[in-house]
Amino acid sequence: MSDHKSTYEPKTGIEKWLDARLPIIRLGYDSFVDYPTPKNLNYWWTFGGILSLCLGIQIITGVILAMHYVASADLAFNSVERIMRDVNYGWLIRYAHANGASMFFFAVYIHMFRGLYYGSYKAPREVLWLLGCVIYFLMIATAFMGYVLPWGQMSYYGAVVITNLIGAIPVVGPSILTWLQGGFSVDQPTLNRFFSLHYLLPFVIAGVTVLHVWALHVTGQNNPTGVEIKSKEDTVPFTPYATIKDGFAMILFLIMFAVFVFFAPDALGHADNYVPANPLQTPNHIVPEWYMLPFYAILRSMVFDIGPIPSKLIGVVLMFAAIAVIFLLPWLDTSKVRSMRYRPVMRWFFVLFVITCVALGWCGGKLPTDMVFSMGTDSHNNPIGLSVVLLSQILTAYYFAFFLIIMPWIGLKEDPLPLPASISEAVLAGQKH
Ligand code: HEM
Repeated sequence: MSDHKSTYEPKTGIEKWLDARLPIIRLGYDSFVDYPTPKNLNYWWTFGGILSLCLGIQIITGVILAMHYVASADLAFNSVERIMRDVNYGWLIRYAHANGASMFFFAVYIHMFRGLYYGSYKAPREVLWLLGCVIYFLMIATAFMGYVLPWGQMSYYGAVVITNLIGAIPVVGPSILTWLQGGFSVDQPTLNRFFSLHYLLPFVIAGVTVLHVWALHVTGQNNPTGVEIKSKEDTVPFTPYATIKDGFAMILFLIMFAVFVFFAPDALGHADNYVPANPLQTPNHIVPEWYMLPFYAILRSMVFDIGPIPSKLIGVVLMFAAIAVIFLLPWLDTSKVRSMRYRPVMRWFFVLFVITCVALGWCGGKLPTDMVFSMGTDSHNNPIGLSVVLLSQILTAYYFAFFLIIMPWIGLKEDPLPLPASISEAVLAGQKH
C-alpha cells in the first residue's frame, strides 16, 4: 500500500552506497519482501505471478527463435521447419513458444475472470484494470501477428480474413487495409511488418506490466472478501507467504505446460499450418487459435444487414466492441459491494457469463453451417433446429447484456449479504467451521 513505510535497512557498505544513489534494492524489498499482503488470498491470486512467468518465457524463447527465423514469404515456412529439425533443441524452443502463447491466454483468462468475480476492477483499482485491458489487447495483437509468421495455410488465411475486416469500414476502410497489408494483398510486406511488430509488442507488454504492478502497489491488493485492509492484522508479509504460494502454483502450472510441450505439442494448433501458405488454395475451414474463438463467433454471428449497414461491418464493430466493453467495466458495475461472494444474485449471472464465453468459443470453432441439434428439414429442405449461427447470436446478446444491462441494473437492485467487518474477522469466522 502507498502509505506503507519502508523497513529496508542496508547492511553492507555496498548496499548503503547504492541505496543513497539508486534505491533499487529498497524498491524490491518493499515491493516483494515486506509488502503487506492480505492474509486471505486464495490460489486465484497466483495467476499474476504465473503471467509474469509466461511473459518471460515468451520473450526468451521468441528472441532465440528470431535468431533462426527468416521473415521471407519464400523462406519463412522452411526456416521454421529447419528450427524444428536442425537447430539444437529448436523443437523445444518452438513448441515452448507456440504452446506458451496458449498457456499465457489460459492464465490471462483466469486472471481476468478472477478480477471480474471479486470486483478487483472497482474503485480505487480502475487504472490497474485499464492497464490490464491494454495488456490483453496487446496480447491479442501480438498472438495474431505471431501466428502469421510460420507462413502456413492457416497463418496466411488468418491474416487475409482478419486484415480484410478493416476493409468493411466505410470510406476509409480500403485505404487503411492497403496501408496495413503494405500492398493489395497479404504478402511479403505484410510478413515483414508483422515480424517487426511481433518482436516489438512483447516489450511494450512488459512495460505496461510494470505500470500494472505499480498501480497494484499504490492501491494494494484486493482480496476474496472485497473488504479493504483495515489494520496490520489483516496482512502478512509478501515473503515468505505469497512467494512460496506463487512459487508452488508456478510449478504446477509448468507441469501442465510441460505435458503439452512434451506429449501433445500440436494439440492446440491446427494441422493446416503444417502446409505451406498457398494463396491459390483456400482451406475449407479457416479458424483462429482457441483463445480468439469467442470473438470469432461474435464476428460471424452477424449474418443479416441492418438497413444500409452490411452484416460484415456490424460483425466487425461487435467484435471490437466485445473487447472495448471490458475497458468500461469499472463504470458499468453499480454495486457497492466488490466481491461476488456477497452478491447472491450477480454470482449466478457471472456463472452464466463464463458458460457463455466457453460456448461462444465452441461456436467459433464450428462451421457456420453446422447445426447444434437438428430436427430434420422443412418442405424447402432447410434444416430445422438450432444452428451454430443462431446459438452464436443468442450468446452474443447475453455477452453484451451482461455488461450493459445486467451489471448496471443488478448492482442497484440486489441486496448483498452482510460484509465482514475486516479480513481478519472473515478469516477467523471461516476457521470456526
Ligand atoms: C502480461 C499480463 C499480465 C501480468 C503479467 C499481470 C500481472 C499481475 C500481477 C503480478 C498481479 C498481482 C497478483 C495477482 O493479483 O494475481 C496482478 C493483479 C491484477 N491484474 Fe494483472 N497482469 C496481467 C494482465 C492482466 C489483465 C489482462 C487484466 C484485466 C483486464 C488484469 C487485471 C488485474 C487486476 C484487476 C489485478 C488486481 C487483482 C486484485 O488485487 O484483486 N491483469 N496482475
